[in-house]
Amino acid sequence: MDMEQRERWATKIGLILAMAGNAIGLGNFVRFPTQVAGNGGGAFMVPYFLALFLLGIPVMWVEWVQGRYGGKYGHGTLGPTFYLMARESLKPRSALWFGLIGGALAFATTTLLNSYYLHLIGWSAAYSWFSITGAYYGKNTAQFFSQYLSNHGLVFLFWGITVVLLGIAVGQGVSKGIERWVKVMMPLLYVFAIILVIYVFALGSPLGQPQWSTIKGFEFIWSPNWGYLKDHLWKVMLAASGQIFFTLSLGMGIIQNYASYLGPKDDVALSGLATVSLNEFAEVVLGGSIAVPLAVAYAPKIVPPDVLAKGSDAALAWISENFGLGFSYTSLPNIFVQMGTAGRFFGALWFLLLWFAGFTSAIAMYNYLTALLEEDLGIKRSVGTWVVFIIYFLLGIPVVYINGYLDQVDAWISFQLALLALFDIIVSVWLFKPDNFWRELHEGALINVPEFYKWITVIIAPIFIALPLFGTFTDLVSKTLGWPAKIAIL
Ligand code: PHE
Repeated sequence: MDMEQRERWATKIGLILAMAGNAIGLGNFVRFPTQVAGNGGGAFMVPYFLALFLLGIPVMWVEWVQGRYGGKYGHGTLGPTFYLMARESLKPRSALWFGLIGGALAFATTTLLNSYYLHLIGWSAAYSWFSITGAYYGKNTAQFFSQYLSNHGLVFLFWGITVVLLGIAVGQGVSKGIERWVKVMMPLLYVFAIILVIYVFALGSPLGQPQWSTIKGFEFIWSPNWGYLKDHLWKVMLAASGQIFFTLSLGMGIIQNYASYLGPKDDVALSGLATVSLNEFAEVVLGGSIAVPLAVAYAPKIVPPDVLAKGSDAALAWISENFGLGFSYTSLPNIFVQMGTAGRFFGALWFLLLWFAGFTSAIAMYNYLTALLEEDLGIKRSVGTWVVFIIYFLLGIPVVYINGYLDQVDAWISFQLALLALFDIIVSVWLFKPDNFWRELHEGALINVPEFYKWITVIIAPIFIALPLFGTFTDLVSKTLGWPAKIAIL
């Protein structure tokens, strides 16, 4: 594609909101609370912040640098970008291998993740509707959910509305489509989340039992739990670094794709940091202040009485293991119901928030595939968006029909994100050469990144990545080996 014709972001604020939308997703509001609760509450936050500074921020910069670099040569996908950067140290033939590996991994992860991510977004749209209409009121929420899932027409209706809207946004292009959509959706997303957080805190002790309050849930997340950390160090470290990849959308190619629409001298250092900050605000401040505090405040209604009688630690442990924070389609409706009519409104707001969050991440993935067709294969954007739609439709079928698919694919994705992040550093820091990387990072930069970050990126980050890489690999092997026996066609 001709460089002159390549699209650019129209405004700085549009770019930042698009990047924040890319990163902020179901990971912030659903995956994060599940990970915190499942890993000892405050125990999780210590390695989480460590991973943020030693892994998240450096890899985010690497990906922005890659994106802008590829964009200079008219490419927004990983294959060509890896090739161009690896050429700095390697002969073209060897560089090509890195291009192939990077391109294939990015393609595999985007398509795999979307096969279920889009369904989760579709379910959120449906549940927003079910909440406002009170459809699950007075019903067993688990049964309600499986009835919904077996109504394939309804499932594909909400899925279809979501994917058609995604296709429209992406089909309109980067500045006229994506940028316009996120400029409306992202501020609204923050507004929805802030309203929910205020409401959650105003609830206090909704059941009139002071020992069960939303503040208690907040404390669970924020008081460091060193004992738990010591006893489960490996598990918690692994979960924390995995969450950092997922929430920041790293290791996939979509940050690079958005950054490829920058001008060659546009800042990446401050913008990368702004993306991380906006995401972390949405994750630890907003995402951490809704689902977990709600579950704790309503503990007497959801935790079995015999567990409750054993005290608050036992109840918190029960919530972490059994409540299904990550599966808010069946768990949280039990709480919204407790709120009476207000629950209809706040339930709808919560699921709409999930829909917005997921949608603005899905746009980035949709655009990646469209750019791949457009720039690497020469297929027009308007046609490409339909091709992606068909690919998504085919990929979405197993989620609805195969039991256990989601868990299985999630294990693969966690591994692939870490693997590609490692390749990011090998190609764009080691092979591209650390000095070149550092110079690129500072080209047009609005801030000066302290020199020690260069060494964190060159040495510490790749060592740190080895942790999730190894951990997710063992997880993957055990899940894959154990899976065939569990397959059941619904
Ligand atoms: N970061 C997004 C989220 O938190 C989505 C995403 C996850 C994108 C993993 C890419 C990779 O939900």
